[in-house]
Amino acid sequence: MGNTQPTPPGPPSGELRATGTLEIKDSRTDKNYSVQIVQGGVEGDTAIRAMDLRQIKTQPDEFGLMTYDPAFMNTASTKSAITFIDGDKGILRYRGYPIEQLAEKATFLEVAWLLRHGELPTQDEYNNWVHEITYHTYVHENIKTFLQGFRYDAHPMSMLCSAVAAMSSFYPEAKNIHDPEARNISIVRLLAKLPTLAAFCYRHVKGLPFIYPDNDLSYTENFLSMVARMSEPKYEANPVFVKALEVLFILHADHEQNCSTNAVRAVGSSHVDPFSAIAAGVAALYGPLHGGANEQVLRMINEIGHPKNVPGFIDEVKGGKGSRLMGFGHRVYKSYDPRARIVKKLADEVFAQVGMDKDLEIALKLEEAALNDEYFISRKLYPNVDFYTGLIYRSMAFPTDFFTVLFAVARTAGWLSQWEEMLNDKEQKIARPRQIYVGYGERPYKSTLTDKFPSAKKDALRK
Ligand code: ACO
Repeated sequence: MGNTQPTPPGPPSGELRATGTLEIKDSRTDKNYSVQIVQGGVEGDTAIRAMDLRQIKTQPDEFGLMTYDPAFMNTASTKSAITFIDGDKGILRYRGYPIEQLAEKATFLEVAWLLRHGELPTQDEYNNWVHEITYHTYVHENIKTFLQGFRYDAHPMSMLCSAVAAMSSFYPEAKNIHDPEARNISIVRLLAKLPTLAAFCYRHVKGLPFIYPDNDLSYTENFLSMVARMSEPKYEANPVFVKALEVLFILHADHEQNCSTNAVRAVGSSHVDPFSAIAAGVAALYGPLHGGANEQVLRMINEIGHPKNVPGFIDEVKGGKGSRLMGFGHRVYKSYDPRARIVKKLADEVFAQVGMDKDLEIALKLEEAALNDEYFISRKLYPNVDFYTGLIYRSMAFPTDFFTVLFAVARTAGWLSQWEEMLNDKEQKIARPRQIYVGYGERPYKSTLTDKFPSAKKDALRK
């Protein structure tokens, strides 16, 4: 958020600058305090440093004033130069580049480089980057055995989360996070192997043999090959699907301090290896209020069943009886989600190729009903990126519970960039929020138990 001014030439300083002071009067003591107001770049938001409030106290030995902000509604946990969002204006940029331009013209690996390094790659940099990622796509054979231990109906996000965490045990040197070379190889490995792990999760659930990476193919083509190839010696992906996946990966690559990125940064702040930190991101993404929403949109549409049921469903949502309208609303976007606009156009292109999705009519009717309803208008609830992605993925024959896995593959690029930015930020320490204790005061221990070590065996003997 912030005011839109022309970007000055040259790279941004990455530092916060003082723009004024906030005068505070504490009514408990009648004391006045002056607190500095800081701002990021030209479009950066303003804030005060929460630690500056600690000087405000009624007694010298008091802890000092904190801020109380459940769910981080108004707290900046970091400064960041990676992604800019203006939620009121519906703007999303990676490193200054509008998402619309990147989605139209860039490749996913170009965007992954940009997110990490801050600048678009030169041709040589790009060639090396693509080469490195392509040649790290294979996973250790034991990963296959590990995945085979999952039940046939395991959720692929649960498998992916475990597999990413397990990779930490294959690369013990990844814990040398302060060594730039060790960090680089971990980043390359994670970006390269996530599609392989994701595809293996898919094949396991389907009971199909695992397909090894084909290093002649592009990132997205290879992914589609590992998912869909059967007996053909060379997989040839549908170019419309390849383009759609490339765009969807770019749209999902980063989104500043969202729930899963915050999880990666928080876990990474303990200086654990990046495989463990990224596994935390996958776990956070799995939830239905975050990345899991694309799966829930399709389940919701299935439940509605027919366009004629849409008004009744909307009434249930408004009455708080049913679930929320999945794929609607966003913590940050309060006008529209710019990614949703691109996805809707993309959906038209994919449906033109594969035919109209039977549930699209329900989705369109839902969107129309919600956009014209006072409940949604007054709460500024608009379609988010997940509203249409599920429909596209399904028309590409991906099963519903695989949608969030696709999101995770793409978001790995953002998680890794944010993780490395966090490590290089001198102001960051282990993430450890405060709390306001509202429980009992001190009281003496007095047990009400008569048997301190009950066991199932003892219970059986008693009977
Ligand atoms: N359907 C119906 N009502 C909603 C919805 C929705 N999708 N989203 C919010 N509301 C209502 C709430 O009930 C609340 O109403 P109230 O003021 O009468 O109590 C009001 O709008 C504000 O909602 P909050 O929960 O305070 O908004 P918050 O910013 O915390 O939540 C969120 C954002 C989690 C995305 C929410 O809009 C939601 O649950 N949406 C559905 C799930 C979804 O699509 N998630 C994907 C987000 S995008 C992503 O993560 C990639």
